[in-house]
Amino acid sequence: MRVFVLSCAIALILSVSSAVATLTNAQRLARGLPVLPPKFGRALPGYVRTPTAAGANPSTSPVPPKTYTGRILVKSYDGGTLGHLYNWASGINGVNFGDSSEDLYVTFTVTRSGKGLIDIQAIDPAFTGPSYIGTTNNATLATGSPTAVGFGNVIRTPVHSPPVPVGQYNADESAIWTFNPTTYELKAHYVNINGHKAKTTIAYKIYNNSIFFVGDIGAYNAAQVDPDYLVSPITFYLDLTVDSSTAR
Ligand SMILES: *[C@@H]1O[C@H](CO)[C@@H](O)[C@H](O)[C@H]1NC(C)=O
Ligand SMILES: *[C@@H]1O[C@H](CO)[C@@H](O)[C@H](O)[C@H]1NC(C)=O
Repeated sequence: MRVFVLSCAIALILSVSSAVATLTNAQRLARGLPVLPPKFGRALPGYVRTPTAAGANPSTSPVPPKTYTGRILVKSYDGGTLGHLYNWASGINGVNFGDSSEDLYVTFTVTRSGKGLIDIQAIDPAFTGPSYIGTTNNATLATGSPTAVGFGNVIRTPVHSPPVPVGQYNADESAIWTFNPTTYELKAHYVNINGHKAKTTIAYKIYNNSIFFVGDIGAYNAAQVDPDYLVSPITFYLDLTVDSSTAR
C-alpha cells in the first residue's frame, strides 16, 4: 500500500514537475526558491495513514478513542523505578513500597492521536469519596514561586477549568492529564485560578513519601529550611501489566 501510494506520489510529481509552482519543497530549496505549505501531504492523505486505517474517511468515521487500564508507575528524576501509586484508605498519595495488592488501578480514555486533556479514574479505590485523581487546592503555581498544589482523589471537573471549590478546604481539578501513547507517560497540566495553564512538575518528598505538584522545583527547594523536606521531580507512566498476586 505504502509503496503503491509512494509511486503514485512520484508519478504525480514527475507529471507536473515542469511547473515551478508544483515542485516539491526539497526541489524548491535546491533551486533557492521559498518553500510552500505542504500541499502534497493534504492531496494524498493516504500516504501517512496506516494500512488498517486506509480507506476510512476520517471526516465521516473517526477512529474510536481507546481506553487504557493499569497501574501508575512512578519513576525518579534519573529514570529509575520507585514503585506504583498507593491505593490508601485515606486517599491517593505516595508510592507503595509494600504488597502489590495495595497498588492503585486506574482507567482513562484517550483519542488515538493521544492529544487532549484527560481524566484518570481510580478502579476499586480503597478510599471513599470522589474517584478521579488530580489537584486538591487552588494555590497558584508559577516560575520563581515556591508554592505547591496537593495531589489526591478529586471530583470530575471540566477541561481547562480553574480549581473548582469542594467543601470548605478543597478545590479540585481532574482533567489535567495528557497521555503519550508511545512512551505511556502521563503528564500533569494544572490550571491556575486565573485560568492560565501553569508549568506543572510532579514532586516527590521522600521524607514522608508524599507526592504533590509545584511550578518551580528549584524555588520550592530553596524555600525549605529543613533539608529533610527537599523534593525531587518524578514522572508517571501507565503500567499495563497486571500483578499476578492480585489476579484481576
Ligand atoms: C480556593 O479554595 C477555597 C477552598 O475550597 C475556597 O474557599 C476559595 O473560594 C477558593 N478561591 C477561589 C478564588 O476560587
Ligand atoms: C509531608 O510533610 C510535609 C512537611 O514538609 C507536610 O506539609 C505534609 O502534610 C506531609 N504529607 C503527608 C502526606 O504526611
